[in-house]
Amino acid sequence: MTHAEQLLAAKRDFLVPCVYHFYQRPPVFVRGEGAYLFDSEGRRYLDCYCGVTVVNAGHSNPEILEAAIAQLRRLQHTTTIYLTEPMLELARALAELAPPPLRRSFFCASGSEANEGALLLASLATGRRECVYLDQGLHGRTKWAMSVTGLEMWRTDPEPLRTAHAVPGPRHPGSLAALERLLRRETIAAVIAEPIQGNGGIVVPPEFYWPELRRLCSQYGTLLIADEVQTAWNRTGRWFAVEHWQVVPDIITVAKALGNGFPIAAFITSDAIAAHYTRPGAATFGGNLVSCRAALATLHFHQRHDLGRRSETLGAHLAGRLRHLQQRHPAIAEVRGRGLMLGAELRNPDGSPANQLTDAVLETLKDAGYLIGKTGPGRNVLTFLPPLIVEAEQLDGLVDALDCVLQGY
Ligand SMILES: Cc1ncc(COP(=O)(O)O)c(C=O)c1O
Repeated sequence: MTHAEQLLAAKRDFLVPCVYHFYQRPPVFVRGEGAYLFDSEGRRYLDCYCGVTVVNAGHSNPEILEAAIAQLRRLQHTTTIYLTEPMLELARALAELAPPPLRRSFFCASGSEANEGALLLASLATGRRECVYLDQGLHGRTKWAMSVTGLEMWRTDPEPLRTAHAVPGPRHPGSLAALERLLRRETIAAVIAEPIQGNGGIVVPPEFYWPELRRLCSQYGTLLIADEVQTAWNRTGRWFAVEHWQVVPDIITVAKALGNGFPIAAFITSDAIAAHYTRPGAATFGGNLVSCRAALATLHFHQRHDLGRRSETLGAHLAGRLRHLQQRHPAIAEVRGRGLMLGAELRNPDGSPANQLTDAVLETLKDAGYLIGKTGPGRNVLTFLPPLIVEAEQLDGLVDALDCVLQGY
């Protein structure tokens, strides 16, 4: 038995079967450095998935590790019932980065938790109980968060909350009209949406969409929650993706890349909205000292290395090269995204989602030393989420490898 086969056997034995993995022949990753992952046999892979857009500042980033290790040596954990510095320093940093008037944070450990908290807050602040979400959005695994997830694959709950209502996704021409019909009831506490849908297949809304979403929510007294769990922290070339449309939501949720691999998440809101959440609220791992130090070091690293600009420039480069590839490979139906959050949708000659081809491309690219992801309701969107420290030449290598792989099809 190979090492990978042994681990697969242990996985079958000890994990809940819902925990799935990519690849027929999965490597065993043992080390990460910068843009690369290394497997147990010493092979190197350019990681263009980043553990789903988490290690935006690169694997084992020394500056972030040093800050976390120093904190780990001093004091690893207390909880929010005691006073400590790192959580408040991070809260101040988030208040400076978030669009005004958003300046108050509640820290927790995962994106699901941040969204669950944001929906609770919206309900407290408005006195309403219902909410609206978009088809093909993904917001998490907890009760509320899964009930507002519009991707069939991730809606495992046999009885999602009936107070959650779906409207068609942002590229559907009837999306906003359907939303307004629901908002007119004046029972909707919040609309929750990703600025660019990640798991939905890197779905970029039309330019008018978020400004309209903002206008409609304000008109009907509904709060707008931007789920920036994937899109924040320069993934799209901005701290927050809503900045592309100069829209200020009522609540922003963040997680993933904030700690560059250390678990930390938050919802961020205004004084006025936060004022409705006064009963005790505590997350044991919320504001964890080590995670907060790592997050502060991550934000400094982003600032010092101008990762927003890198994401924008390198994203334009990669998108251009993928579009060039599209002209030569008819299987690529569309290339879309912003910054270094890019997707290439693969379709069969009859127009159906090419999910088998997508799997074959992922497997062959992995064997060639490149890791990318796949998303979309048809599981047919190749997803490119490289670390923002990646070099243009490394991305060129990826595109050349993809070109070779697609030549066989
Ligand atoms: C947009 C979005 N929201 C929420 C979540 C859930 O985050 P977590 O897995 O940290 O609970 C995810 C996870 O992929 C996500 O992509």
